[in-house]
Amino acid sequence: MADKTVLITGAGIGIGRATAHAFAKAGHRVIVTDILETEGSAVAAEIQAAGGEADFHRMDVTSTAATDKTVKQVEEAFGALDIIVCNAGIAHKVPLDQLTDEKWDHTFDVDLKGMLRVVRAAAPAMRDKRAGSIVCLSSIMGYVYGWDEHVHYSAAKSGVVGFVRALSVELAASGIRVNGVAPGYIRTAQALSTVHSLGPEGLEQAAGFIPMGRVGEPEDIADVILFLASDAARYITGQVIAVDGGLLVGRY
Ligand SMILES: NC(=O)c1ccc[n+]([C@@H]2O[C@H](COP(=O)([O-])OP(=O)(O)OC[C@H]3O[C@@H](n4cnc5c(N)ncnc54)[C@H](O)[C@@H]3O)[C@@H](O)[C@H]2O)c1
Repeated sequence: MADKTVLITGAGIGIGRATAHAFAKAGHRVIVTDILETEGSAVAAEIQAAGGEADFHRMDVTSTAATDKTVKQVEEAFGALDIIVCNAGIAHKVPLDQLTDEKWDHTFDVDLKGMLRVVRAAAPAMRDKRAGSIVCLSSIMGYVYGWDEHVHYSAAKSGVVGFVRALSVELAASGIRVNGVAPGYIRTAQALSTVHSLGPEGLEQAAGFIPMGRVGEPEDIADVILFLASDAARYITGQVIAVDGGLLVGRY
């Protein structure tokens, strides 16, 4: 039996999926959650087939009823969550003149408030246990850069930085650490979208100005999330770490 339970949002594909596998390999029980049922169930099945422990729960982070219900079910089965990875996110390309209230609110609802919903539901039991670690996905596009035609996304991802900082201070005395990761260009469905992001060709061009000479893979992010959640990072809280192959420090 695994001794630590991690809940990951948006774990059916991309960075969330790689993170689920990384935690499973490290011996954790993984609660795979997503709105993508086929993909999420497949990730849990892959982990089980490899001898790990995993369950899939369909959970939409824009629904408080859904996040409350899932966290309660997991706590009833396994006790307080040890680790939460707030990963679910969307990055829609919307020029300013088309950025309606609804489009702005939807991105904030998934990318920022979605984190609050999960953390708020899980925090009481984590506090009682006086232990835990939370890792939230920001982006270099909110952490340092501004992304044109993605103002709502950049704003929400900047919001994640504030969320991490404030939450880390509030939960530190309860033994809970809160940190973030700001990925650079990572090869996932999000970045490979020609409609909303760079697309395959744009991503390869980006590799040309990344000092390490390549775009990131989901596993490059997953391993840093695993580190931040681990005891090796026991004195780190309130920090957001850019994982970008040197892009931010090297592009001038
Ligand atoms: N790929 C990159 O280059 C990159 C860069 C910086 C930050 N990020 C961030 O990393 C995180 C993971 O991104 P990715 O690249 O793996 O993207 P992705 O599109 O491959 O995966 C996103 C996941 O979030 C899930 N999701 C979307 N809306 C949801 C909702 N309402 N409820 C639950 N799950 C929902 C999707 O179903 C999917 O599984 C996101 O927060 C993203 O903004 C990605």
